[in-house]
Formats: sequence, C-alpha cells, structure tokens
Amino acid sequence: MQKFVITGGRPLTGEVRIAGAKNAVLKMMAAAVLTDERCVLRNVPKISDVAILRELMTDIGFEVKRSNGDALDISATDAQWPFVPLEAALKMRASFILLGPMLARFGRVILPNPGGDRIGRRPVDFHVAAMERMGASIVYRNGYYFAAAPSGGLRGAHVEFPMVTVMGTENVILAATMAHGTTVIDNAALEPEVDDLIAMLTTMGARIARTAERRIEIEGVDRLGGTEHRVLGDRLEAETFAIAAAITRGEVALNGINPEHMGAFLGVCDRIGVPYEADAAAACLRVRCCDGPELRAVDIRTDPYPGFATDFQAPLSVLLTQASGVSTIHETIFEDRLDHLRELQRMGAAVEILDERRARITGPTPLHGAEVSIADLRAGATLILAALAATGTSVISGIEHVDRGYEQIEAKLVALGAQINRIEA
Ligand code: UD1
Repeated sequence: MQKFVITGGRPLTGEVRIAGAKNAVLKMMAAAVLTDERCVLRNVPKISDVAILRELMTDIGFEVKRSNGDALDISATDAQWPFVPLEAALKMRASFILLGPMLARFGRVILPNPGGDRIGRRPVDFHVAAMERMGASIVYRNGYYFAAAPSGGLRGAHVEFPMVTVMGTENVILAATMAHGTTVIDNAALEPEVDDLIAMLTTMGARIARTAERRIEIEGVDRLGGTEHRVLGDRLEAETFAIAAAITRGEVALNGINPEHMGAFLGVCDRIGVPYEADAAAACLRVRCCDGPELRAVDIRTDPYPGFATDFQAPLSVLLTQASGVSTIHETIFEDRLDHLRELQRMGAAVEILDERRARITGPTPLHGAEVSIADLRAGATLILAALAATGTSVISGIEHVDRGYEQIEAKLVALGAQINRIEA
C-alpha cells in the first residue's frame, strides 16, 4: 500500500500543464465502440480509471493501445465477449457507460450494477429506464443487468430525466446515435464534457444538436466512422491546482484549460477574494495569492453545471478553513459527500457537520499535519490540499483513489515547490 508524506507550509509557484478531463475521456473511449473504424484520442490523461476501462474494453475484444505519449488508439472491430465483470465495475462506476454503445452497435451486453449491491446510492435506474424506452429489454439478476436491443435495433424515443444526470445523458446520446429515428432528451446535462463528447461524435458522423437549454435531439444514422479527437482540459484538476496556489499563498499558472468552463468556481473565487487572471484565448488561468489577500467566508451550494460542481465541494472546503468568518456548504447532488470534513477536523479545522448534506466551517484556523485517510477521489485532493497548507508533516493513506483521476499529482506539485513523497507502507 502506498501513502503520501507531505510537509506543508511552502508557497507553490510556477506553471502546471493540466491533463485531459477524466470525465470526458472515459465516455469518448466508449464512443469508439460505435464504429469498426479506428478512433484516436489525444490528450488522454495517465490515470488508473483510463487503464481500468482500457483493460475492460480489451477483455471484450477491442484493441486499445497507448501511442505517442498522450494518445489512445482504439479499434472496436468485434465484441467477442460482451460482458463486464463485477471487479471492474466496483473499481469504476463509469464502466456503465458501455451500456448505450454496446446495445447500439452489438445489440447486447451484460453489465454489473456498478454500485455492487448498494442499491439506492448512485443508482443507474435512469439509464435503464431510458434504454427501455428505446426498446431494449433489461433484466436484473444476481447483481447483473442482462441487456438486449430489439431485433431491428434501438428506436428513437423521448427521454425526460427526473433529475439532471451527466452519465445518463451521455449514455442515451451514445445509444441514440445509431437508433432508428429521432431521440429527444429533456433535462439533459450541460457539462462541457458532454459537449466535447457531442463534438467527437459529430466528427464520427452523428447528428446531434442542443435545441433548447436542457434539450438534446439526436437523429439516428446507419453507421459511424472513425475519428481523431483531442480531449478537453480537466477543469477539476485545474481547480485543484488553483486552490493549491491560493491556500499556500503562491502563484501558479494553469495551462491547457478553458477558464470559461470554470465560471462557477471563478465566481466563488471572486466572492472569497482569490485574485486570478483568466485568458481563454491562451487556455490559461493564473492564480496569484502571494500578496496574502484576506479571504472571506462564503455560502456554497452544489448544483448541476453551470452551477458549482459537487466534485469541487470537498477541495473548496480546505480554502474555507482559511477564510474569515462562517462559511456554509450545502451538497445537493449526492448524499454522504461530507466525510472528508471529519479528516479536516483532525487537522485542526473548525467544522460542524449539520446533517449528511450540510456543514458549517469557521475560519481562519491554522491546520496542522496529521495521519489521515482518503475515502474517494475528490476527498483525496482535499486532504492533499490541506496537508500543503498545514504546518508539519501529514501522512495520507488511500492514495489509490487519487491515482484514479489525477495524472502524476505529486510530480506536478513537486515541480511547483511542494514537499511530497510517495512511500510504500
Ligand atoms: C458524473 C461524474 C461525477 C460527478 C457527477 C455529478 C463522471 C464519470 N462522473 O457522475 O464526477 O460528481 O457526474 O456532476 O462523469 N442518479 C439517479 N439515477 C441514475 C443516475 C443518477 O438517481 O440512474 C442520481 C445520482 O444518484 C445523483 C444525481 O442523479 O444524485 C446525479 O448523478 P449523475 O449526474 O448521474 O452522476 P454521474 O454521471 O454518475
């Protein structure tokens, strides 16, 4: 088992290259299943989620190779074994994104419930109901979904999601690209990663349009062709480094990111008092906190894009421990996404957890090093940020969660002047 040992208190300065977005690339790998022609993805992050999906797609019978550093070369000629094993799905919920493209192209797939048997938490019922509307038959037995398209192929349908779902929207888009007729998705997700997926599919020959704010229309086509596509920059990785600069009172330029995708986060920076310069044309965001501005407490509520991202609620909480006054957090998307706050308490943060969705943070409080444990990807980023801001040394376990979504995080932090080591423990 590996751990991070971090000694905090050093201002981070310099430049960092932001990797391609995890939440886009996984869906683009799934999009490559829709054609027997070669698809090449560029700016693919070296993260373990990509490695897991790559292995899983290889087991199905597709060829998925790393080439030229940051590229991934995919040829989905035939699905010899249209089955996703439970171990893979437990490691990565996003494996469920194969449902739509496998049904569209091969007419069948067997997938586990990605939450294992924890039905009720992060369910996939919207995905299943949408595919059924498109004519698929889906039977759930012994923890697996046995899904089959009707003999003539999936049919276009009207899908209205009861609440905004990112992967649900993407699964339906993928399924609908080759369905008979037109599919209309209402209450669709607006995330930039969804638009980047649509851009890729369009170059493959798909006919997809956003026809109203939360409406997407897809006209099915007979076949899709290969493509080359560059994955957009990871706004969540960028926001993590932006906070690292702010919390250590440093100055960091983030390259390879469109600041226009970070509107809600930058709005919060304005309210807190974190100075930054955004240059969309240069794909750069510079955060400059070396003059030590006083940070102000804020009230945060997570919402679907363009609202404040749930994924960024945890990392932001570290900054709130350093803001003057009482901040509040309201998590509206997922229940139980406040666990990291208990670890922050162990590092000296003044946190009150009001219920499973709400908390209050009083600042500023000095943070001190501690032994803490990571429970999920974004909580991992949070504890690393806290350790960078703390006095003394922290030992962080559970870092495999961080490797799921952050490419070489310690190398990037070391290049900015952080003291962080990965050790075998
Ligand atoms: C994606 C992101 C994740 C982010 C989340 C919300 C990926 C790989 N992951 O997850 O990082 O935190 O969007 O922005 O892109 N829901 C149901 N039934 C369903 C589907 C969803 O009840 O069938 C609920 C969820 O429990 C949650 C809400 O809908 O409360 C939104 O979830 P969703 O947008 O689907 O999250 P993901 O796409 O899985």
